[in-house]
Amino acid sequence: MSDLFSLAGKKALVTGGAQGLGRMIAEGLLRAGAEVAITSRKAEVCEAAAGEMESLGRCIAMPADLSTPEAAVELVARYRQSVGECHILINNAGKTWGGPIDSFPDKAWPGVMAVNVQAPFTMIRELLPDLGKAGTTDDPARIINIGSVAGVKTERLNAYSYAASKAALLSHQDDRAFAR
Ligand SMILES: NC(=O)c1ccc[n+]([C@@H]2O[C@H](COP(=O)([O-])OP(=O)(O)OC[C@H]3O[C@@H](n4cnc5c(N)ncnc54)[C@H](OP(=O)(O)O)[C@@H]3O)[C@@H](O)[C@H]2O)c1
Repeated sequence: MSDLFSLAGKKALVTGGAQGLGRMIAEGLLRAGAEVAITSRKAEVCEAAAGEMESLGRCIAMPADLSTPEAAVELVARYRQSVGECHILINNAGKTWGGPIDSFPDKAWPGVMAVNVQAPFTMIRELLPDLGKAGTTDDPARIINIGSVAGVKTERLNAYSYAASKAALLSHQDDRAFAR
């Protein structure tokens, strides 16, 4: 049965893969046999997490702060140079901000939108050629954007920019297959 879910020979990039849900995703991919690159804003956190996961399979630390599109472009260039192929991109890194509406600050918008919406878009745009090369018609490359229920239905979280960002991220949905 495990062969059905094997990712042996696949290479994956998980943003925010050093902790939280991203780490669980990275561990799952490693257990399935994939080689995994993870990102974190802090180099030491990234290196430590990759070192801890190395017992599960090859895990590479790629520190990156994805607050700007330039950083996403640079991350993809670095990934391409040190890992090469990319079969799976998991846009997991995310940022939130909560507060009552009457004092919800304007500064709670640009950072959340940059990390949750623009960075995933830039990562996808930059990695498209690699994903296209790595996929085949029978086994296309995959992009998984980690959304949230907050982007689908109104929740009483007072996380206005977060909910809007996750709704925007869902608009990146596309069932096109990436294959050469
Ligand atoms: N937990 C939930 O209940 C829940 C529910 C729905 C959706 N989600 C989504 O699941 C994803 C992971 O969430 P989580 O619960 O695991 O949260 P978390 O523990 O707070 O993790 C957030 C991740 O995003 C990364 N990150 C934040 N800002 C970043 C930046 N500027 N540049 C690069 N990376 C950045 C963090 O990396 P470092 O701190 O290592 O730099 C961390 O790995 C997010 O997209 C979140 O919106 C979570």
